[in-house]
Amino acid sequence: MQFPVTRLRRLRGNPVIRDLVQETHLRLDDCVLPLFIRHGEKSFDIGSMPGHRQLCLKDLSQEISTLTQLGIRAVILFGIPENKDAIGSDSYLDDGIIQQAIKVIKTQNPAMYVITDVCFCEYTDHGHCGFICENHPTQDVDNDKTLELIAKQALSHAKAGADMVAPSGNMDGMVGAIRTYLDQHGFSHTPILSYAVKYASSFYGPFREAAEGAPQFGDRKTYQMNPANSNEALREAALDVEEGADILMVKPGGPYLDIIYRIKQAFPQVPLCAYQVSGEFSMIKAAAEKGWIDEKKVALESLISIKRAGADFIITYFAREIAKWLND
Ligand code: PBG
Repeated sequence: MQFPVTRLRRLRGNPVIRDLVQETHLRLDDCVLPLFIRHGEKSFDIGSMPGHRQLCLKDLSQEISTLTQLGIRAVILFGIPENKDAIGSDSYLDDGIIQQAIKVIKTQNPAMYVITDVCFCEYTDHGHCGFICENHPTQDVDNDKTLELIAKQALSHAKAGADMVAPSGNMDGMVGAIRTYLDQHGFSHTPILSYAVKYASSFYGPFREAAEGAPQFGDRKTYQMNPANSNEALREAALDVEEGADILMVKPGGPYLDIIYRIKQAFPQVPLCAYQVSGEFSMIKAAAEKGWIDEKKVALESLISIKRAGADFIITYFAREIAKWLND
């Protein structure tokens, strides 16, 4: 039917009918909050990410109690260890920063769902997401050597009580290596959230300050994906599903809505997470501080768009604000 019989404005006439025909919804239950946990006795504000801190263990309990009151039910942890070395050995210590943090969180609120980022960039002195092969002309990351230790790190998080592990280093075979190792050690019940489709993105800028994990030379282009590629994302996702990923992730979120859409269409049976990364968050914060945009409206629109594209849930630095806004 054509106009004038069809008039789409009929279903936009007031808030009630608009809500009744709304197709996509954002709930606090769709949001996972990233937390940065640092060694030492003091927490530090992260300048480029207003409202976020590098939390020391001492302040973590209080933070978890606040988040619980807000209704936040899931967090993803990033660690800033005391010592960095060439192989990131602090990352799989029994009393490493993340391992301790999990225990603090679970003591405060056993129901808080704890996801851990499994990677080496915050633990290596060179800031890359794996081992560097010395003999390699470009000093590139050694894929298969990295797999051995990435599995060790994942197991140590699971042993400390992590509910889910999320490998983010983009090594080939990373999901399979972790799945096999977890299964061999009695952790077949621990799910893997794979950063399956992760781009070499400049939107990670503020995160590198937050997690102190910037590469000291070169960049991440030999392991993270080229932002110009889309078909390749389907190959990445297919491999990870084969290797046993329980949930797929696309990262960043907002600038990659086409990728989220394609992955959901191609793998409708696999839950899909999107990561609204630090740069996406900080840009909205900065523009709002200048009074150029409405923070709440733009943040909510950015998140509903990610869901509309096909994400089932979202890792977002706005989770605290969402809790407050949705309560209002
Ligand atoms: C670690 C990791 C990064 C992010 C999540 N896990 C940094 C990177 O890959 O360089 C970025 C998250 C963000 O920007 O919010 N590999």
